[in-house]
Amino acid sequence: MKVAINSLLIAAVATTVSAEVWKITSLDKGTRENTCSRQVQACQNNCGGPTLAPMAFCNATTMAWGCGCKNNTPNMEVWNWPVPAADCSGSLNVCKNNCSTKNNTSECFINCTKTHMCNTEDAPVSYTSSSDIAVEPKYVGPAVSYKGDKLGDLNDGNNRDNLSPSSSGTSDPKTASDGSHKSTTDDDSSATRLQLAGTAVFAALAAALSF
Ligand SMILES: *[C@@H]1O[C@H](CO)[C@@H](O)[C@H](O)[C@H]1NC(C)=O
Ligand SMILES: *[C@@H]1O[C@H](CO)[C@@H](O)[C@H](O)[C@H]1NC(C)=O
Ligand SMILES: *[C@@H]1O[C@H](CO)[C@@H](O)[C@H](O)[C@H]1NC(C)=O
Ligand SMILES: *[C@@H]1O[C@H](CO)[C@@H](O)[C@H](O)[C@H]1NC(C)=O
Ligand SMILES: *[C@@H]1O[C@H](CO)[C@@H](O)[C@H](O)[C@H]1NC(C)=O
Repeated sequence: MKVAINSLLIAAVATTVSAEVWKITSLDKGTRENTCSRQVQACQNNCGGPTLAPMAFCNATTMAWGCGCKNNTPNMEVWNWPVPAADCSGSLNVCKNNCSTKNNTSECFINCTKTHMCNTEDAPVSYTSSSDIAVEPKYVGPAVSYKGDKLGDLNDGNNRDNLSPSSSGTSDPKTASDGSHKSTTDDDSSATRLQLAGTAVFAALAAALSF
């Protein structure tokens, strides 16, 4: 336990970025471009190739991203796409950096790890997806996981006090009465809408041009 806590403290010292308000656009230009390029590539691969990915986009300025395929609904889990994954990882770093301001640093690190289970369905929803490359994402929304659970304070400098899941306009993403979890977050539904819209538009186009 002592070893684990020591390594956590070393990690805290190693990342010397001062406590700031996390926003994915604060990543440097090179990292944004690299992440965006991986985002578009992942979408194209998921669709079966660039020509089958008419709605694969990512804006390296705003990090607005979307993925819509011509023939299939993208089947990659939202939390594994490069942009949402980078959003989670950046929020986690700011969370840990800010533990120096807390009265119990090791407990704060444990909290950060629990609220930022990046690349899993327990990751905080990333509000980076967009309907169009020119439309800025929301960036900040209620602290809920993709699974639909309410999360504790993400401790990344963003004020989410007035952003409870039930006031966000979506249904309450609590455990359903059948015991299963519903994903009813803004990000999920807009991503699904986007994907369906992409599929529908291109299915219609294909029909019109009788591919
Ligand atoms: C740490 O601060 C919290 C409030 O932020 C307080 O409730 C708690 O008692 C404090 N713990 C210690 C050990 O000082
Ligand atoms: C800090 O948090 C850890 C883990 O919750 C706990 O075991 C420890 O007693 C706390 N230390 C203080 C000084 O409150
Ligand atoms: C850890 O999270 C718990 C539950 O949300 C909270 O009560 C506690 O104050 C947090 N501890 C620190 C050091 O941030
Ligand atoms: C990316 O977003 C910015 C800011 O909204 C916008 O000015 C720019 O045109 C967008 N890029 C593309 C390729 O649409
Ligand atoms: C860091 O923690 C302090 C005290 O809890 C809080 O007021 C501040 O907003 C936090 N800053 C960031 C960047 O998380």
